[in-house]
Amino acid sequence: MLDARARRALAMMEIPVWQGRARPPAADVWTELAAQVKECRLCALHETRSQTVFGTGAKDARWFFVGEAPGADEDRLGEPFVGRAGQLLNAMLRALSLVREDVYIANVLKCRPPRNRDPEPAEVQQCLPYLQKQIALVGPAVLVALGRIAAQSLLATSAPLGSLREKVHHYAGVPLIVTYHPAYLLRSPADKQHAWADLKRAQALVNHE
Ligand code: URA
Repeated sequence: MLDARARRALAMMEIPVWQGRARPPAADVWTELAAQVKECRLCALHETRSQTVFGTGAKDARWFFVGEAPGADEDRLGEPFVGRAGQLLNAMLRALSLVREDVYIANVLKCRPPRNRDPEPAEVQQCLPYLQKQIALVGPAVLVALGRIAAQSLLATSAPLGSLREKVHHYAGVPLIVTYHPAYLLRSPADKQHAWADLKRAQALVNHE
């Protein structure tokens, strides 16, 4: 059953929810959504993917991390953030006394762009409704946008990452914190301290919910 928070979020996004006795249990909604993503052919990325990468984690997580798109490892294994950037994300979670199973992790795009190029606006537009539904179903206390593409896609802006950090935004009524992408942090470790400050900001939102 969808709880009140999930229903509010779906209503804010004008996503119809089942009413009355015919309403399916939440497990069915998840199964249906996962099946839709698996079969998705809305953009050309389905032609080059090995498989879709739906998302992973606790379906009632307080933390919801949003990445950009699957890379080669994720395309091969069908799970987000399983490569080098994923190892760093795991370490960031450990620093927060969390493990992957405590949080929900998904990407803006469910399919790998060829050669890891940036997502195209039309691909984001086609794919974003899947992420919107995942967020509404989980009903997290905080969203953490990992990197520019995730932040710009969720906030529908072209503002640079630097101007989006250090603020509390909202997406569908959920507080949203913007931080660096773990792949960027692998290249620029000096910014890890700033990413940590972002995560502490997000933690404060979870703790004071
Ligand atoms: N980068 C992302 O943004 N997402 C992944 O799943 C892996 C790498």
